[in-house]
This record gives sequence, C-alpha cells and structure tokens, in this order.
Amino acid sequence: MPAFYEWTIGCQMNRAESLRLSARFLELGYAHTSKPEQADIILLNTCVVRQSAEDKAINKLQNLKALKKKYPEKTMAISGCLVESAEDIKERFPFVDVVFKAGDWPIDWLKSNHPSLPQKAGVSEAVTIMQGCNQFCAYCIVPYRRGRERSRTIEDIESEVRALVTRGALEIVLLGQNVDAYGQNLKPQVTLADLLYKLNKVENLKRLRFLTSHPKDVNDKLIDAMASLDKVCHQISLPAQSADNEILQKMRRGYTIEQYQNIIRKLKEAMPDIALSNDIIVGFPGESQEAYQRSYQHIKNGRFDTVHIAAYSVRSGTIAARTMIDDVPAEEKERRLKELENLQQIISQEINHSLVGSIQEVLFTELKNNRWQGRARNDKLVFVNCDHNLARQTHMVHVTHSGAWSLSGKIV
Ligand code: SAH
Ligand code: SF4
Ligand code: F3S
Repeated sequence: MPAFYEWTIGCQMNRAESLRLSARFLELGYAHTSKPEQADIILLNTCVVRQSAEDKAINKLQNLKALKKKYPEKTMAISGCLVESAEDIKERFPFVDVVFKAGDWPIDWLKSNHPSLPQKAGVSEAVTIMQGCNQFCAYCIVPYRRGRERSRTIEDIESEVRALVTRGALEIVLLGQNVDAYGQNLKPQVTLADLLYKLNKVENLKRLRFLTSHPKDVNDKLIDAMASLDKVCHQISLPAQSADNEILQKMRRGYTIEQYQNIIRKLKEAMPDIALSNDIIVGFPGESQEAYQRSYQHIKNGRFDTVHIAAYSVRSGTIAARTMIDDVPAEEKERRLKELENLQQIISQEINHSLVGSIQEVLFTELKNNRWQGRARNDKLVFVNCDHNLARQTHMVHVTHSGAWSLSGKIV
C-alpha cells in the first residue's frame, strides 16, 4: 500500500489544512506513516511567522533532500507560508515536486476540487471560514503569504460544519487571521455574528469557538451573539500586541490601548465568566523601557487567562523591516519575554486556583496517563479520575485542584 508522511508547523489554520490533505490521501488509498523513508508522498506544511519557524521549515527541507536524491520517485510537496511563489520555491529547492500556497487546494494533484473531511471526526474540529488578512500590521508577514481576505459563504461553512457533526464532531472552532472581518468581501455582506446565529442551530453540535479576533473589529452585535447563543463558548482570543500607544501606532494596529480596554470591559459586562487570551510582542523597534513597562502593567492588571508572548523577529518585506531599525538587543528581548512569561505563569496559576470549588461543564476527549481529559467551556484543560469511558461525553465537574496549566476534579 502506498503511504504518505505529513509534517506541519504554524497556526491552527495550517493544522486544519493538513488534516484535510491527509483525509484526501486516505481517500486516494494511501496509508499514513510517521517515517518519511517509508512514504511515497512527503508533505511539509510550513510557517514563517518568526525566524525560528522559518529556520525549522528550511532545516526540515534540507534534511529530506538526501532522501529525495536517493529515492527520486518519492513525491516532495510543500505548502504553507514558506511558499511566496511556486517559482521561488522551485529555484531555491529544485528537488521539490509539488508546491502550492496555503488555502489553494491543489486540484490537479489531488484530483478533487474541494478539501476532504476526515471519515471520523474528532470531538473538536477546526473549520477555516476565511483566508488571508488585509491588516498589514507593520511586523507581520501573513498578508504577504496568505493574500487578501477571502470569506467562504455561510452556506458553504454550514454544510461543512454539518458534515463534521454527522461524522462525530461535538465542538467546532472557526478559524481566520481576523475572524471579526468575516463576510466583509461577500455580497451581500454578512458578519461573524450572522454566521454564529446560523451555526448555533446545528443539531447535535454542542460548542462553538472562534479565533483570532481583532480589537478594531469587535462590535456590539458580536458581543450580543456571544452572550446570547447557548453553543458559543465565552472565550475570546484578542491580541493587544502592545500596551503603548506609540508602539501600537507604529505597529499599525488601528486602536489605542484605551479602546482595547474598553472592548474588554464590554465583553466582561456581557459575560462575567469570559476567558480572555492575549498576544504580546516584546522588543518591537523603538520599544523603550517605559513602553515595555506599559505592556508589563497591562498583563499584570489585565489578568488574562492565557498570553502568548513573542520576541519581535524581523520579517523581510514587511513595513517594519523596510522602514524601522531592529534596535532592541536580542538579550533584552529575551529578558522581557522571560519576565512576561514568568508573570503570566503566576497569573494563570492564580486564576486557575480561583476556580477551585466551582462547577464546570467539561467535554471529555481522551484518556491521558489514566485520567480522563477534557475542556471546560472556558477552554481550561480538566482531568478527572474515572473507571468509565467518558470520551465524547459532557459532565458537570466539581473542581478540586488547580495548577498553572490545568484543573482536576470530580464528576458531580
Ligand atoms: N491574526 C492574528 C495573529 C497572527 S500571527 C492577530 O492579528 O493577532 C500570530 C502571532 O504571532 C501574533 O499575534 C504576534 O504576536 C506574533 N507575530 C507575528 N509576527 C511577528 C513578528 N514579526 N515577530 C514576533 N512575533 C510576531
Ligand atoms: Fe498579521 Fe496583523 Fe493580519 Fe494578524 S491582523 S495576521 S498580526 S497583519
Ligand atoms: Fe505561520 Fe502562516 Fe499561520 S506564517 S502562523 S502558518 S498564517
């Protein structure tokens, strides 16, 4: 039986696409293998959001070069954000056979004109609702590699969600670089709120989540939809990136930190139990100690459930790379990164501790080290000791213990 090997890094959109590509290889009669030596098809789905990701992708490609030389009949395929153009990849890596951009389903190669879905869906499945980004934040390569915003129609998304639910999915995570801009390019225009109202009616679907949100596009209609729809989890991923207005302006984020905080206030008013996730970049060009301190205080006082912290990495071709000097030394970026990570670890621990004694609705997925693992509606990881099979079940759990990354408890 022919086999395929798949290697993926990057965001959830890359993962979602790799799952669909894998599903197609299975349909075409290939078996999955975790060893590239045994594969007839080798697929790499790449990311270049920071230099470290780009290095990983290039190393992986270089490592596979010898294998391809020895077995030229193997098909080497590459996708994801390393692909600027097919010509560029073929020039730099002539041993690659198939090149396609993220979100561009390679019809000729896969002999199908639309992405495949897994025969058996997982408890939680991701659905990409739009591709691309129009923001052009000064530091970010994504708009250059993923192109402008293109939204799928509500009907198209709904039919995919229904198909996944029929195949066993209980939770759907809607994906896009800026999901709050969903539908702006469709005629007639629709919004993420419209999509949520529609999907909330899908029978047998238990939970809906979406990410990533952009602070300049979160509006009252979306907040109302989140607060009123029973399947939509009270959770939002809303990156501030910095808490210094001068830096925010240089980043071209399109809001001030006061506007950001105003949205958070409205979200909390509408949903007191909302879980908040934030992204922060440290060491952006011109980030002084004072500017960094604003981000530090923002994280300290904001008490976010999770914060992803990144050290600024120059991405060639972006506005920042063209017009700004990368003037914060690497060691200082690293120091700020570690300091924020340590701060956030304590906060995550405290927030989790404050949930001890509470009752959480947990959707269980699998057995891990003899304990059942699941997610609460606020996305917290929850473990429970239980002799029965809890997979795919929802139970109310009394939280008895907490750590920085998870909770544990007993079924009520
Ligand atoms: N669309 C999302 C995020 C996309 S990239 C948004 O608008 O926030 C994911 C995260 O990577 C970003 O939130 C940012 O924190 C980080 N990131 C993007 N470009 C970066 C760069 N050049 N250097 C460091 N971090 C970066
Ligand atoms: Fe990048 Fe900004 Fe678009 Fe997010 S919104 S993908 S950070 S350009
Ligand atoms: Fe990476 Fe591209 Fe996603 S750069 S984070 S794979 S959009």
